[in-house]
Amino acid sequence: MTSALTAYVQSRNQGGVDIKTTVDLFRRYQFLERAAIPALAGWFLAVPRYEDKIALGYRLWAHAERADAFRRRLKELRGGHRDANTEPALQRVGDAMLHAPDEPCFLAGVRLILARLGAAYREHLAVADASANALERRILRAALADLDEAKAWYDRRTDAFSPDERERAARWTRWLEALLAAAGGVSGLDARAELPAERPATALFERPATLLFDARIQRGTFEPFDQRMNLTFEEKRVAEFRIFFNEFYAAAVLATILHDAWRADAPWEFFHDMAHHFWDEVRHAEFGATRLAELGVAPDRVDLVLFDGSQSLPFLHRLCFLTLGLEVFYMPRKQPRVKRYGEAGDFRTQLFADVDWNDEGNHVRYGKKWVTHFLEDDSREIEDLQDEIKEHMKAIFADLPEGKLSPF
Ligand SMILES: [Fe+2]
Ligand SMILES: [Fe+2]
Repeated sequence: MTSALTAYVQSRNQGGVDIKTTVDLFRRYQFLERAAIPALAGWFLAVPRYEDKIALGYRLWAHAERADAFRRRLKELRGGHRDANTEPALQRVGDAMLHAPDEPCFLAGVRLILARLGAAYREHLAVADASANALERRILRAALADLDEAKAWYDRRTDAFSPDERERAARWTRWLEALLAAAGGVSGLDARAELPAERPATALFERPATLLFDARIQRGTFEPFDQRMNLTFEEKRVAEFRIFFNEFYAAAVLATILHDAWRADAPWEFFHDMAHHFWDEVRHAEFGATRLAELGVAPDRVDLVLFDGSQSLPFLHRLCFLTLGLEVFYMPRKQPRVKRYGEAGDFRTQLFADVDWNDEGNHVRYGKKWVTHFLEDDSREIEDLQDEIKEHMKAIFADLPEGKLSPF
């Protein structure tokens, strides 16, 4: 079957894709890639397996990178506003990624969208002219390689469904297929079908108030920093990677920012930076899981007190608390730690400590840039915001020593 884009290009005998069509397509691609971000951020909090959380962290950043590549190209094309031109039917497809009724439906739903995006990118690549469309071809090729890798992960997860989960997921993906058909497919060029009236589930996704884990990971506490520094080398190393694993709390703060700020008046670059920051924190938690496994220890706990304590604050305060409060507070520990593991000849541990130190510098920069941006027409300064946060946190951490921002 010749699909609509191919038929269009062939009917005009143009042997490539004109600017207007390229713009229409790229706008739709970036919309769907972008719509996956709040969906994955919300479900990151909800899925109980930490391995799935890590995988979603990687996937979320990949969506942001692909959306960014399409958007950067759109800037160079006679394209008009990149977000003001989304048709409601496509918007419904984007929303449905988030509003899956349960985890199997969410995973199967995103898997379907990825498959359909992949097919669209493949077809676009096939009809693009090697010279006239060379820039789009590079973007599509890179996106496809990335997408295929992501799809393989969703395939593995959905292949492991129980018969009951499979049945529920199938009902949900039929609905998504219908939504896509009503929007003329990913390209918008297919013949549009009537939307069936019945949505198979009535509930809308509400992000959990806290970060959920399965029974392997319990709520617990960690020793304060000074106490940790007095442990033996081996004990300290394990203790430090437990703290790395606990960076799930920082990733979760970013997930709530990505999710809650979605409707805020913010430039795309903000979401792009937050997606990067989120992924970094997911990787830091992964450092913990990886190194603990290498040291023969299973991660068994998280301390979510800083996450839970910040949850009633607006996203601006959460961002300020994490980047200009906590990350600045932890920073003096970073360089000595890199040096310490280097001197001990443990370059494997040093690798993780070194990368972490490097990433944290970027996070503080993101914080300064975006807190300043959101305070632009505000009578408050960063310091005022920090006072508000301190006041709020004092009520939660009544027993924290003066000058300490974190119990660990
Ligand atoms: Fe971190
Ligand atoms: Fe960080």
